[in-house]
Amino acid sequence: MLNVAVVGIGNIAKSHLEGLLTFSERCRVVGLCDIYLEKARAGKEKYNLDCEIFENLEDMLGSGLKIDLVHICTPPYVHAQIAVDAMNAGCNVVVEKPMATCLSECDDMLEAESRNNVILTCIAQNRFMNSIYKLKKTVDSGLAGKICCTHVNSHWWRGHCYYDLWWRGLWEKEGGGPTLNHAVHHIDMLNWIKGELPEEVMAMLTNVMHDNSEVEDLSVSVMRYKDGSVAQVTSSVIHHGEEQGIVLQCANAKLAAPWDIKADITQANGFPKMGGDQNLIHEITEYYDSIPDLVYEGHTGEIDNILTALEQGGRPMITGNDGRKTVELITAIYKAGCTKELVKLPLTKEDAFYTFEGILKNAVKFHEKSGYVENFAEDTITLGNYK
Ligand SMILES: NC(=O)c1ccc[n+]([C@@H]2O[C@H](COP(=O)([O-])OP(=O)(O)OC[C@H]3O[C@@H](n4cnc5c(N)ncnc54)[C@H](O)[C@@H]3O)[C@@H](O)[C@H]2O)c1
Repeated sequence: MLNVAVVGIGNIAKSHLEGLLTFSERCRVVGLCDIYLEKARAGKEKYNLDCEIFENLEDMLGSGLKIDLVHICTPPYVHAQIAVDAMNAGCNVVVEKPMATCLSECDDMLEAESRNNVILTCIAQNRFMNSIYKLKKTVDSGLAGKICCTHVNSHWWRGHCYYDLWWRGLWEKEGGGPTLNHAVHHIDMLNWIKGELPEEVMAMLTNVMHDNSEVEDLSVSVMRYKDGSVAQVTSSVIHHGEEQGIVLQCANAKLAAPWDIKADITQANGFPKMGGDQNLIHEITEYYDSIPDLVYEGHTGEIDNILTALEQGGRPMITGNDGRKTVELITAIYKAGCTKELVKLPLTKEDAFYTFEGILKNAVKFHEKSGYVENFAEDTITLGNYK
């Protein structure tokens, strides 16, 4: 039985607690921690937990409570410090996305993981959604051939007041806009499906709808990989309808989530033949349909995977290095957008955007943050549109 504590009992903590409670024979929640103690208390009551509540991490780690695993569900700017403190106390850690606000924090976390011989993992729950999981498996089957061009539509919509929450809309607390906080999901998928980072990135950042926020509300980036393939990533909180997806133009076929397949075949004059390559479409569709559904999706699926790794002494599917790669590509997008230059990867420790201070110094501030809400009365949130 694993003892679990959750730090930051806001919106997303619910998905963690509900996931953990799905496996109540394998783990128990022993501690909840939030700087607003009433939020920890409300979480304890809502889920009828037999646990202790704490107002800060120090008290929790120093309480003598045996904790095997700490879930970090706080705003991004404190992910790294909480993770390092928890790992130094001998706990394994699962940190919500984004892993951290910069590469130097990611490296501190990875160093603490190996020094303390514990496990650090990051939330990327969409790898545990059937649509994304089956797309990845189908790409890996090789039936569609090499990925030549990827379109990533990280399209979200958030009202103006979204950025009134005290930690949002500030580079120093949110760490960035939708490129970091929303497209992090899709950029993780892109890295996972491609299996490597691009070599070069160009980007444009803007803020067109949220004049109460410093950070971008829209970015468009393009990137080129070693094999010559390219990808385009749109990161947005201004897209009505939130039609999200990933489209892979492979050598033999187009594959996409939400699931779609097209396969063109040539006529003698090079133009596409009407109806396309029906044999290949049939073969790939059969392959896709033969993949069994995941038993648990989203956070619950990822938590199942993490618990299994801890029980069996293995590694979770998503590693700290995966989280770092996602932050590296996002940092490259920010650097390209802020400097208006082509950025080459990997980013080195000497890079001006490697540290949080460097990002804060160089980031474009679109507007002054105005509005300051401590906690919204409404706590219903949506987690994206992964059909
Ligand atoms: N995986 C997903 O789909 C998903 C969705 C939403 C949010 N998130 C991520 O989850 C994290 C939290 O987002 P949220 O929407 O739940 O925010 P939130 O503001 O609703 O919750 C964060 C909680 O952390 C608490 N907190 C802040 N600093 C703290 C500290 N130092 N120690 C203890 N508690 C602290 C706050 O009081 C708050 O209750 C962010 O990193 C966000 O990007 C992930």
